[in-house]
Amino acid sequence: MTRRSVILGTGSYLPERIITNHELSETLDTSHDWIIERTGISARHIAAPGEYTSDLGLIAAQRALEASGLEPQDVDMIILATSTPDHTFPQSAARIQAKLGVTQGFAFDQAAVCSGFVFALATADAYLKQGMAKTALVIGSETMSRILNWNDRTTAVLFGDGAGAVVLQAQEQATRGIIGSLLRTDGSGYDDLYVNGGPSSTQTTGTIQMKGPEVFRNAVTRLGEAVQDILKIHGIAQEEIDWLVPHQANKRIIDATAKKLGLPDSKVIHTGETQANTSAASIPLALDQAVRDGRIKQGDLILCEAFAGGYAWGSNLIRM
Ligand code: ACO
Repeated sequence: MTRRSVILGTGSYLPERIITNHELSETLDTSHDWIIERTGISARHIAAPGEYTSDLGLIAAQRALEASGLEPQDVDMIILATSTPDHTFPQSAARIQAKLGVTQGFAFDQAAVCSGFVFALATADAYLKQGMAKTALVIGSETMSRILNWNDRTTAVLFGDGAGAVVLQAQEQATRGIIGSLLRTDGSGYDDLYVNGGPSSTQTTGTIQMKGPEVFRNAVTRLGEAVQDILKIHGIAQEEIDWLVPHQANKRIIDATAKKLGLPDSKVIHTGETQANTSAASIPLALDQAVRDGRIKQGDLILCEAFAGGYAWGSNLIRM
């Protein structure tokens, strides 16, 4: 008998405003050609003034609930993966809970930057298997535009805003659901990618600082391990993977991971070109897009992976 956390629905939301590489190069010493060649990004969505992380997450959550056929009152756990909460506290997940009209269970934020969704999915799975909750909303939502230095070409071109969500339900004797997760942190990389502000340090929000080439090297190596190790742990062959649903930081990083798995590009979900790096939102955004356009179907075996500041990285293996 297997109790598994089964994905019943997915949803996502992107803000209306789109900023292309060409528009960015009007104010920044950069070019469309440089950005597309080094990252695969050509545009990003940016939240409107007054549009918060919780607003984006709420819409993604509503869409995921609608797809699942469940009602807000069925939800008894909400985990919001974000590094850009509306306020320092309380948790933005509480705001989403209230706006959805959920009055039971619990809601909290989880921060692991770009690996936030992988970590939140693993957390939700553990809680559901323990019986601490029955039905979970796991949301990745970010307004990365609010922590960018728009005059810094080395970071401003890389990120975007957005949200994605899944509804998970604990089911007994399930033949599908989350098979397992692998989470890793190496805090010795803390200074390679960080935001130079915070309540305890500067009492300001700060902006993203990154040693790009250092992060790139670490991402390629550690993601290769994260995807191969999780398959080994669960006795699954590379050929059994139907879809790689990666965090969308950089197309070159994704290509390197797919190559390690021997996966053709036709089995990789790419959204980075039009969405850039939406941090914790990028995996559920990619998942929702591929579910809605019919590529990912019930029964497919999918592998999610992400690498982030911290360093924090990991993977989830899921039978849809
Ligand atoms: N436009 C034009 N030129 C640029 C730009 C730009 N936007 N940005 C940097 N350059 C210049 C640099 O100044 C440098 O110029 P120089 O040679 O005259 O000094 C040159 O381009 C090369 O710079 P590098 O940083 O070496 O370029 P690289 O090929 O490494 O690409 C990039 C940079 C795209 C940032 C890459 O390092 C990368 O993707 N790193 C990983 C980023 C990542 O994955 N972040 C995800 C984690 S996100 C999270 O956790 C929040």
